[in-house]
Amino acid sequence: MKPLLLHLVLATFVFFSSIRDGCAGITSSFVRSDWPSVDIPLNHEAFAVPKGYNAPQQVHITQGDYDGKAVIISWVTPEEPGSNHVQFGTSENKFKATAEGTVSNYTFYKYKSGYIHHCLVEGLEYNTKYYYRIGSGESSREFWFETPPKVGPDAPYKFGIIGDLGQTFNSLSTLEHYIESGAQAVLFVGDLSYADRYEYTDVGLRWDTWGRFVEKSTAYQPWMWSAGNHEIEYMPYMGEVVPFKSYLQRYSTPYLASKSSSPLWYAFRRASAHIIVLSSYSPFVKYTPQWQWLREELKNVDREKTPWLIVLMHVPLYNSNDAHYMEGESMRVVFESWFIEYKVDMIFAGHVHAYERSYRFSNVDYNITSGNRYPVADKSAPVYITVGDGGNQEGLASRFMDPQPEYSAFREASYGHSTLEIKNRTHAIYHWNRNDDGKKVPTDSFVLYNQYWGNNRRRRKLKHFLLTVIDEVVSI
Ligand SMILES: *[C@@H]1O[C@H](CO)[C@@H](O)[C@H](O)[C@H]1NC(C)=O
Ligand SMILES: *[C@@H]1O[C@H](CO)[C@@H](O)[C@H](O)[C@H]1NC(C)=O
Ligand SMILES: *[C@@H]1O[C@H](CO)[C@@H](O)[C@H](O)[C@H]1NC(C)=O
Ligand SMILES: [Fe+2]
Repeated sequence: MKPLLLHLVLATFVFFSSIRDGCAGITSSFVRSDWPSVDIPLNHEAFAVPKGYNAPQQVHITQGDYDGKAVIISWVTPEEPGSNHVQFGTSENKFKATAEGTVSNYTFYKYKSGYIHHCLVEGLEYNTKYYYRIGSGESSREFWFETPPKVGPDAPYKFGIIGDLGQTFNSLSTLEHYIESGAQAVLFVGDLSYADRYEYTDVGLRWDTWGRFVEKSTAYQPWMWSAGNHEIEYMPYMGEVVPFKSYLQRYSTPYLASKSSSPLWYAFRRASAHIIVLSSYSPFVKYTPQWQWLREELKNVDREKTPWLIVLMHVPLYNSNDAHYMEGESMRVVFESWFIEYKVDMIFAGHVHAYERSYRFSNVDYNITSGNRYPVADKSAPVYITVGDGGNQEGLASRFMDPQPEYSAFREASYGHSTLEIKNRTHAIYHWNRNDDGKKVPTDSFVLYNQYWGNNRRRRKLKHFLLTVIDEVVSI
């Protein structure tokens, strides 16, 4: 209990020091020792193939609807299509219900994929543990997952945020630390397997190893996907020119539930959060489908129901690292004013292989003719967080812009992951955990006040007053 209390006191201190707008940010002096950023060899147990003929592998689940009463369960069978059923139920070994999925396969250069299954399991109860079985006979496998609480303003929930993971020993360390964190679902900010660093048939093989690598988490809790540049796989020299081919075959998103026309951008609600996933590598300028969809989706956000509004994308809009500097600028110009208008709480991105957190800053006054070219403190702006530090084979991005820009609150070139623990409509506790040569060290943390409920006492009072009045009117 005591260390936790101390921790909260420290976290609060960090938070209060972070809200003094314009104070110089911190560039962490921590220098991690160099672990080799090499991919785990193919014969390593992290990629072990499950026993039994045609046993389902690479099992992963994701939310299957808008509000969390469905999951999409996906897996690959290597030898033949096999059973397309998911059996499920609320007690172990008693699978009362069955759902039927779809199966497909694809080629990538001369690689032939296994049989990729996606099965929507719907009509679930909230806050319930479900057990499920896939495959048949001796080769069948069993897993479980928990559904979230009903969507509502005070539903607590703990999200993990991981980006740019890859399949190195650093990736393994991030994954294991994430699993220890006790978070309930992952918001993944793009760049999954880094299979595109390979050539020819090895590309497909490294998608398969990655699927097996993350299964110990992805089979038991939803990972919500967004696409990064390593998912594009535009490789004309191998005759592969269809963008996102492997990614779209293997990873499902519930995009139809939010009336999106593409699996690459979508939204969903989980507990007290409304989460919007954008695609940095799909058209987003004015009038494009993604732009039109986002304009409508923002209108659907109901902060009375889901106080927490979170946006995910791959390329950060604020980044003071030498790596990928200003690559997010075009999207910032198009969407930033909406993020301010709708008071987004947090925007998570990956891409830059380091950690960075911003103060609440905006640059909406800047346009090609105005002279206001500097970002300014803005209470309505989101906190921008870059966690492209999952640990992939490209290594760390350790050269930061000097001096540190005013908007940048904290930055460090280490591997790690974040958690966002939503307590209720006003408070959430955020952590960034560094992998310190194998140990998990909470490094940057603060209490986040909700942008809709947390900062506006008058609104809360008014609300309370109105509800009381309504109560009285109703009882008359
Ligand atoms: C999919 O699998 C079937 C049956 O094994 C096979 O005939 C077909 O060529 C495969 N398709 C692709 C695109 O690999
Ligand atoms: C851009 O800046 C100019 C000069 O300050 C201003 O007149 C104009 O309204 C701005 N345009 C937009 C789209 O904000
Ligand atoms: C919300 O959570 C915070 C942190 O746990 C707590 O201090 C606060 O009293 C809670 N507020 C409500 C309305 O429950
Ligand atoms: Fe990237």
